[in-house]
Amino acid sequence: MINFTSLKQFPPGFIWGVATSAFQIEGASSQDGRGPSIWDDFCSVPGAIADGSDGTVACNHYNLWQQDLDMIAALGVDAYRFSISWPRIRPTGSGAFNEKGLDFYERLIDGLLERGLKPYVTYNHWDLPSSLQQSGGWANRDTAYRFVEYAEKVSARMGNRLAAITTHNEPWVMAVLGYEQGIFAPGIKDRKASVQASHHLLLSHGLAMQALRAQGTTAKLGIVLNLSPIHSLTESDKDRAAARLEDGKLLRWYMDPLFNRGYPQDVLDHYGADAPILHDGDLAAIAQPMDYLGVNYYTRTVVGADGQWDKSKSPYSLTDMGWEVYPQGLTELLIRLHRDYPVPPLNITENGGAFKDELCDGGIHDTDRTQYLAGHIDAVADAMRQGVPMEGYMVWSLMDNFEWASGYAKRFGIVHVDYATQKRTLKDSAHWYANLLRNSA
Ligand code: FCB
Repeated sequence: MINFTSLKQFPPGFIWGVATSAFQIEGASSQDGRGPSIWDDFCSVPGAIADGSDGTVACNHYNLWQQDLDMIAALGVDAYRFSISWPRIRPTGSGAFNEKGLDFYERLIDGLLERGLKPYVTYNHWDLPSSLQQSGGWANRDTAYRFVEYAEKVSARMGNRLAAITTHNEPWVMAVLGYEQGIFAPGIKDRKASVQASHHLLLSHGLAMQALRAQGTTAKLGIVLNLSPIHSLTESDKDRAAARLEDGKLLRWYMDPLFNRGYPQDVLDHYGADAPILHDGDLAAIAQPMDYLGVNYYTRTVVGADGQWDKSKSPYSLTDMGWEVYPQGLTELLIRLHRDYPVPPLNITENGGAFKDELCDGGIHDTDRTQYLAGHIDAVADAMRQGVPMEGYMVWSLMDNFEWASGYAKRFGIVHVDYATQKRTLKDSAHWYANLLRNSA
């Protein structure tokens, strides 16, 4: 039915997975001593979330985790990428640790190992404890130190049972959407705070990497970035300069310091007085060797000098998020990363699409999502053929969940969730993925 690259091209040991994050699926927001996070606070701001919803119940994964792990195992994937809720582990961000929170993740990790699944764990997928926001959140340097303490605590307890640890998921999103545009938690609109936040996120990544290595953690260590090729709207000098700057802000701002080049000068010049305050040794701390680099890819970005690009004029189809389906951009991005930086093996830690799903005869025939996934898996194979070292691919998402400012209206899952009953139903894309992996074995 769908034409995609033979799995034979993927080396043995290539890791196939599905991904989620704590705030988006767990619910149980005040169970077992969990403290509030900035996303709980943001959800209570009128108009912040499109459908007025919040994460109080979500997929109730906190209580349904065993059946969810059975479902993941039945898909035949190698790995499950999920995140640990910082406010479950340390409810106030700087006070006492919460044993019940640690116990939950220990049970979850042991449950994965019993089922032969590799735990790929993200320590920060955006849900900062609220009390840390009261003293500035990521714009405050102290938050970086609190993050390291939390990471050390979790790793000391269960780090050696993990296949891989990600310090942060998508620092650009936290810094820019959270502190500059204010459309994500914590809802701040202050560019200086945003740029400083991005520096503290990178700094805390580097400090945590050093601390975990000092502990002797056996898990692979890395970070996950949201990246995309930035295309210029036209060939005019003005548009090309705008695209180059956007590439600097999205990609080089993170990749350059991670690979020991410091912050890109053109972007520093652009930020001017908003450039971050650095302490001696910060750049060396950020540039830690990584075992893998996670790349989240959804679409390309088109930038022109004057105003917003009108996506309705795109020749490509759009997902329910209004994002172009552009799998060739993934190949382009991976080749560029490999060409421009001494990257470790790359892992596509998120890729997937939101589409309008309809239940029909008890099933969800989401051919659009299957085609999206097949096209992007093909794009990964294409990059590998051109020499890019790849270690894995993970579908976003295992199941429909709380899609941040879009609430529950956008569905990314390969498993459908009926939020009224918490019933999970495998969509056709899940059957397709399982079948793909079965044939590859
Ligand atoms: C990414 C996030 C993930 C999910 C997808 C659609 O930016 O990491 O949590 O919301 O987008």
